[in-house]
Amino acid sequence: LPPTIRQLLSSGHNTESKVQVHGWIKSVRRQKNIAFAVLNDGSCASGLQAVLHNSQLKGLTNGASVRVFGSFVDSRGKGQAKELHVDSIDVLGECDPEIYPIQKQALPVDYLRDHAHLRARTDTNASILRLRDSLIKALHGFYEKHDFCYVHTPVLTSSDCEGAGETFRVSPSSSAPFDSSGPFSGLAAAQSPEFFSKPAYLTVSSQLHLEALASSLARVYTLSPCFRAERSQTNRHLAEFWMLEAEWAWTREVNDVCKLVEACIKDALIFGNSREDERRVLAKGVLGYEERLRSLEDAAAPKPWARMTYTEAIAELDKHSTAAASKAFSFQFKPKWGRALQSEHERWLSEVLVKGPVFVTDYPSTLKPFYMRMNDDGNTVACFDLLVPHVGELAGGSLREERLDPLRSRMAAHDLDAEGDEYGWYVDLRKFGAAPHGGFGLGFERLVSWVSAVENVRECIPIPRWAKRMLL
Ligand code: 4AD
Ligand code: MG
Repeated sequence: LPPTIRQLLSSGHNTESKVQVHGWIKSVRRQKNIAFAVLNDGSCASGLQAVLHNSQLKGLTNGASVRVFGSFVDSRGKGQAKELHVDSIDVLGECDPEIYPIQKQALPVDYLRDHAHLRARTDTNASILRLRDSLIKALHGFYEKHDFCYVHTPVLTSSDCEGAGETFRVSPSSSAPFDSSGPFSGLAAAQSPEFFSKPAYLTVSSQLHLEALASSLARVYTLSPCFRAERSQTNRHLAEFWMLEAEWAWTREVNDVCKLVEACIKDALIFGNSREDERRVLAKGVLGYEERLRSLEDAAAPKPWARMTYTEAIAELDKHSTAAASKAFSFQFKPKWGRALQSEHERWLSEVLVKGPVFVTDYPSTLKPFYMRMNDDGNTVACFDLLVPHVGELAGGSLREERLDPLRSRMAAHDLDAEGDEYGWYVDLRKFGAAPHGGFGLGFERLVSWVSAVENVRECIPIPRWAKRMLL
């Protein structure tokens, strides 16, 4: 493949050499005898300035795709170190400026969501996607360094891991009978709508399957799509999102799980912060961007993030809600031990009290799913939620209940059948060489939102899905 514009600009590519570049026209500026066109090929936030004759401008409108041959040279002008002196330019795809929906000026997010198939052409959306890519690569690097095995888990499942009743049920679109003449004739009896022997759902989390794999491979992780029929229309919920999940054996302290989460996110932050061009684009129009960048740099520093138990968090929230100072940030919902933290409580804890990321640990068992390990108090579970400024809950994890009897009683409390088809296999894992283990799940779009200072996760995924919204 020929070099991308990013490679040309960054690698100290031989100047004075002849190059071929493909890209889209970002802008054209005419002068008396010559013209300047900015080309972008999606590889970086900066464009490549092409210098041409006015006679070569035919069809060069914003958005047109072109192939250019020319000399890559040191620029004599200000604003760019290198430029392309064009020998010849071919328009490969015209773009009619009268009807092209992506005009140059900043476009409102709602307008871009309505044009989801074109929005990656804006500098902002393209920068978010490149930042997203850097974060993925940083995370893979982290897990490789710690000898985790990257695994794939099924998207079709038979259980609701989180027990929140937010699953999408799947059925075949055709009700035609199975072909009973072929090699799979044995399936003929398995008729729709139950295509499989039991109801099939899109996964809400890979955790239970990861636990099965961690019982052999010891350290596993995955980055996979998760699906939730979320009713809440907030800036942090999608119907389809990606979750980074890791699970590993021989861990016995919830704080050790927190430490690994913290280390992997810090690596990602350091990597994300290094995408300076993308950050420059994203900073445009964001109030307080400098401050956000500084707080991300603080978060990436070696100093450990804050930790507090749920019980301590409730005490702090309670103190605040009764204090006079609470007027600046007053709660709609009163914090109370035994009740879920509301997003306003989570924001206050990380943005006001701690002013940075905070792990809240040891929630009441009644607020959490069946698989979390019971603490000795018989009341709380060995778990955490990681709360970060502007986003709220970024990740959640726990030690898993590896003891057979406590697991059975937790399942009974959640009305789950420990012997049945759905969870029998999960209970089985505790019968054959059970290892103490733990893990976590991190909402990948929320990480992108935090690192990029983009308010809504709908902009942090290439093509978003949320309630009542599936444009392409
Ligand atoms: O807190 P959750 O529901 O935890 C689990 O699913 C565990 N089984 C994970 C594990 O331990 N392996 O989801 C984990 C994270 C949340 O902290 C949040 O960041 C993200 O997934 N998340 C969502 N992100 C976008 N849209 C949604 N609808 C999300 N629901 C959860
Ligand atoms: Mg959670």
